[in-house]
Amino acid sequence: MPTPLAAPVPVIAESLYSRSYFYVGGEYVNAGSDDGQRVFTGQMYVEQLTPIDGVKHPWPIIFIQGGGQTGTNFLNTPDGRKGWASWLLDQGYTVYLLDQVSRGRSSYHPSNGPIINYTAELAEKRWTACRDFQLWPEAALHTQWPGSGRVGDPVFDAYYASTVPSLKDYGVEQKLMQAAGAHLLDRIGPAILVTHSQGGTHGWLWADARPELVKAIVAIEPSGPPFQSTIVKDPTVKIYGITDIPMSYDPPADATIGGKAPLQTQEHPALNGRNFFLQQEPARRLKNLSRIPVLLETGEASSHASYDEFTVRFLRQAGVNVKHLKLAEEGIHGNGHLQFLEKNNLEIIEMLEKWIKGIE
Ligand SMILES: *[C@@H]1O[C@H](CO)[C@@H](O)[C@H](O)[C@H]1NC(C)=O
Ligand SMILES: *[C@@H]1O[C@H](CO)[C@@H](O)[C@H](O)[C@H]1NC(C)=O
Repeated sequence: MPTPLAAPVPVIAESLYSRSYFYVGGEYVNAGSDDGQRVFTGQMYVEQLTPIDGVKHPWPIIFIQGGGQTGTNFLNTPDGRKGWASWLLDQGYTVYLLDQVSRGRSSYHPSNGPIINYTAELAEKRWTACRDFQLWPEAALHTQWPGSGRVGDPVFDAYYASTVPSLKDYGVEQKLMQAAGAHLLDRIGPAILVTHSQGGTHGWLWADARPELVKAIVAIEPSGPPFQSTIVKDPTVKIYGITDIPMSYDPPADATIGGKAPLQTQEHPALNGRNFFLQQEPARRLKNLSRIPVLLETGEASSHASYDEFTVRFLRQAGVNVKHLKLAEEGIHGNGHLQFLEKNNLEIIEMLEKWIKGIE
């Protein structure tokens, strides 16, 4: 018997803004018919939310969500409280929410290859109920998810209903997202990126393509660790360190010819029973990212707590100016990977916004 969603949760959050939307990127492709009819693919849905009481900050904020998620992640929470975007609207920021290419309101097209499902069981284990599964030591500290975090709990069900299939091939997704992101920045001008998880790879690539239009990056537990994936076991994953497709390294990273990796890596001692990789010294520099301030933020109970340090070390080694903000060290405890939906979400965005104001 299929399990229905639990009863709806009342929506209590309201912010005053005006809303518009548009699509960026993509192209017409043949629809597969003999008479040359066409469809559109590779486009990205973007909505612009502008505070009604006036814009009080020089740069808008663009949210890029993680795998299997959409722009709803940041609007409000599944238990009806204000999300990060709504709170920032109240502070006078223009906010852009998007759905990554080939998911959500950005239509999937088969030419972009197969999809993966982020199942309810994966969400329970890794994100919402990680304390019940203890797949990593810090999971025991998870206290901030509203409700049990299990199927049948109204808040979990309201959250999980927003989950969508994502493209399986990260390289294809990054290429389409980088093109769409460059279009978006060219259209709206300089902005601050707030990325989450798998969306982190897109943040680095947008900044690489348009370094003068990205004023700062706030990376919430970005896809890591370097040269590895936590979801799939695949030696060809993130061969450019933090991305699967090329970045502007100085000196240039070698082309992937004859199966040779573009960056030379060095293995580092195990942390929690797992080895990590950085570049061999002398390390190539990420030249287009060298002038962009980065705040990389990690929750206390997330699986990222044990390895975000290596993403930070990789970025510093490549000449990126990055501050690592660990929520636990700031007295904010118990957060998992979906911290922007958790009970103390506004306490966290308030802290992040202090850093954002500092670079204005
Ligand atoms: C994703 O879930 C749908 C719905 O059950 C299923 O039809 C499809 O085969 C699944 N795809 C993958 C790649 O697991
Ligand atoms: C790096 O930035 C420069 C502009 O500063 C740009 O011309 C170049 O295309 C960028 N690299 C990539 C790979 O986009």
